Amino acid sequence: MVRENKTQGVALVTGGAKRIGKAICLSLSSSGYKIALHYHKSGAQAKNVAKTIRQRGGTCELFPFDLSDYNQAATLIPNVLKKFSRLNVLVNNASIFEPSTISNTRLTSLDDHFAVNFKAPYILTAAFASKCKKGHIINILDTHITDNQTAHAAYLLSKKALGELTKLSAVELAPRIRVNGIAPGLIFAPERAKPGYLEKLTGRVPLKKNGDVGQITQTIEFLMNNPYVTGQIIFNDGGEHLI
Ligand SMILES: NC(=O)c1ccc[n+]([C@@H]2O[C@H](COP(=O)([O-])OP(=O)(O)OC[C@H]3O[C@@H](n4cnc5c(N)ncnc54)[C@H](OP(=O)(O)O)[C@@H]3O)[C@@H](O)[C@H]2O)c1
Repeated sequence: MVRENKTQGVALVTGGAKRIGKAICLSLSSSGYKIALHYHKSGAQAKNVAKTIRQRGGTCELFPFDLSDYNQAATLIPNVLKKFSRLNVLVNNASIFEPSTISNTRLTSLDDHFAVNFKAPYILTAAFASKCKKGHIINILDTHITDNQTAHAAYLLSKKALGELTKLSAVELAPRIRVNGIAPGLIFAPERAKPGYLEKLTGRVPLKKNGDVGQITQTIEFLMNNPYVTGQIIFNDGGEHLI
């Protein structure tokens, strides 16, 4: 059991091994949180993030779980609480992102997107509410939740649902727990994207540039430090949600 004396508490970050999730782990750790780093397949990267955090004097424990499996999702928080005596921050960041339109989406793809991007955060939110006295949940959404671009229909529907869960759970879990969302725009190209992916898309962003992961962690810091904000979705997207 890891003790949490003299820290801000413990933050569980799903999909924390790389990219945006990794940056969130490192940033929360430098703000004084002990990190429960969840990952699925990226074991080597997760170990590297844990090593970096420990070298900087922080604490990080690893939790490998497949969040497409409801039973595994349901046991993640109980497992975190076996290692840490409390948990006061949950960042629902893990996600899958595959192309599909309504006419060609296989039901299995719809199920997969909803399992990882919506049902797992829902299960984790419910577990957090029942096992943690107070705290803050941050859901990582997507700038496109306000539009109806159909190229990633299953993904977009799952993120729209997570946006609604953000608002609904902010009401139900208040005043003990705040729930907020961050909707990133163009931060990283998908891992399998062709070279030039971001450059091709920045033209449509009102601020005419892509964002960087430091702006996401800056927004997390703002949300963490403002105890009178709940149920908000902050678009980190150069204005893309407006068009
Ligand atoms: N990248 C962007 O510019 C952008 C734009 C808009 C919104 N977002 C949102 O921001 C968040 C982070 O984006 P990202 O691009 O950094 O994410 P990502 O690399 O696409 O995925 C994050 C993590 O999700 C985990 N994951 C996938 N399937 C899983 C499963 N079955 N069980 C458990 N974990 C699973 C993976 O963990 P393992 O690697 O360990 O398997 C992966 O590292 C996501 O919610 C995404 O929708 C990102």
